[in-house]
Amino acid sequence: MNVFRLTHITTSLHSGSRMVVKNVCCIGAGYVGGPTCSVIAWKCPDIRVHVVDKSQARIKQWNSDKLPIYEPGLDEVVKECRGRNLFFSNDIDQAVREADLIFISVNTPSKTYGIGKGRAADLKHIELCARKIAEVAEGHKIVVEKSTVPVRAAESISHILSANTKPGVSYQVLSNPEFLAEGTAIENLVNPDRVLIGGEESAEGEAAVGELTWIYHHWVPQHKIITLSTWSSELSKLASNAFLAQRVSSINAISALCEATGADVSQVAYAVGKDSRIGSKFLQASVGFGGSCFQKDLLNLVYIAECLNLHEVAMYWQQVTDMNEYQRTRFAKRIIGCLFNTVTDKTLAVFGFAFKKNTGDTRESPAIFVCSHLLEEGARLNIYDPKVERQQIESDLTSARATSEPERVEKLIHIYTDPYQAVTDAHAIVILTEWDEFKTYDYKKMLSVMKKPAFLFDGRKILDHESLINLGFHTETIGKRFTRNTLLRSSGGDL
Ligand code: UDX
Ligand code: ADP
Repeated sequence: MNVFRLTHITTSLHSGSRMVVKNVCCIGAGYVGGPTCSVIAWKCPDIRVHVVDKSQARIKQWNSDKLPIYEPGLDEVVKECRGRNLFFSNDIDQAVREADLIFISVNTPSKTYGIGKGRAADLKHIELCARKIAEVAEGHKIVVEKSTVPVRAAESISHILSANTKPGVSYQVLSNPEFLAEGTAIENLVNPDRVLIGGEESAEGEAAVGELTWIYHHWVPQHKIITLSTWSSELSKLASNAFLAQRVSSINAISALCEATGADVSQVAYAVGKDSRIGSKFLQASVGFGGSCFQKDLLNLVYIAECLNLHEVAMYWQQVTDMNEYQRTRFAKRIIGCLFNTVTDKTLAVFGFAFKKNTGDTRESPAIFVCSHLLEEGARLNIYDPKVERQQIESDLTSARATSEPERVEKLIHIYTDPYQAVTDAHAIVILTEWDEFKTYDYKKMLSVMKKPAFLFDGRKILDHESLINLGFHTETIGKRFTRNTLLRSSGGDL
């Protein structure tokens, strides 16, 4: 961290030389832009926040009682601020024109075409935003890159802006990556571990960093605000997600060893996490990580390393995503193996489709991969998730990425709103998301309406497996092998 710059910024904040940000605009009303700007509006009643999006449907939802994303605490924040100093609209031009500071929070998916296909980040949405800003902006604007983007993306934004600058218009581009995790977004925004602000190393750049710092100062203590170079800021975001994903892949790799040797991955994770240098967070073995960031950012890191001829670095991070693929496939194969090597025409009740609990988001959800594998083998799936909409599940499982036979898949999937109905006549229950409500179900009642032997595959390690075995379920979970004696109890000596 550059202490000189930080001191300089703090001084300028108190010297009265600031431009005073009164209007903030955010382009992109998604999982990042929506919650982030809602919290800014909530914590900064003196700032007017205008969130815009090209999608009319999305904005309509932000202005309704049913917000487009499910996030604990978000409804309350939006209700308090909407119409006061928080506004949602499709009027991108007006919002950009009025704003002193513009966040770009549009999606940056992996490219699905051309050079870097499947790995490089697709910057077309970011580029369109930069061109739009250049087209309509007046006066001085601070443009803040908030989407996860490859290193040096801020440079591309600056390039587009400066190549199209009109007289009387000037820009400063900052990087301010978002570290919110879905399901805990409001908590993460209100009490962040740190806020990164990357800017150009010039007086103008430092002044812009000072303006954004001032916004965060409304609720974030100074020691948590880290200022650094734009490139370091961008790379820190990719590196943080890569490190987190690596922890999940590491414990998942150990889970395979546990299953093969009889060790229990929960015990191993506990023991390993007790080392204060390692720490206990993010050591929950699972069916694999999902979400819009981990896979995309890892592949992006791999692509950047390859482009820089750093092959060993690329191969190192590639392994983290390969291990994730291995874990998902391994779990699906284990289900098939346990069900006497065939799931054709068998009914499996799937609990959970979101990539983690407390969100309705299914992007890169391990559920999509496990379900697709089972569908490929001819299984009928009764799917229940407390928050994911029916259409989302259907479109995820019938998309070109998931299957080459969408009509066949459509016939094999049934979406339920009641988990007890989903298990009726099912051969097995498969848990793919760690929703708390799954722990509260009456599994005795479920067992009574299932086909026997009834199987339960816990891909999230959330249930009490001994109790399930005692009830009579043949139970399988990640990173633990039940002894033959335990399983004999569940089958009444029939193994
Ligand atoms: C992540 C980062 O945490 C966040 O900082 C960044 O801004 C965006 O990407 P998110 O993807 O929303 O956030 O959720 P996260 O809690 O990180 O979980 C990602 C995936 O890893 C989920 O599928 C989760 O179930 C899985 N996971 C997480 C595990 O399997 N085990 C763990 O111990 C932790
Ligand atoms: P993230 O998880 O990064 O927030 P989302 O897909 O949830 O991604 O949200 C991104 C939002 O950005 C979408 O609502 C999309 O309509 C919007 N968007 C993408 N490109 C533009 C653009 N050029 N102008 C305005 N909005 C855009």
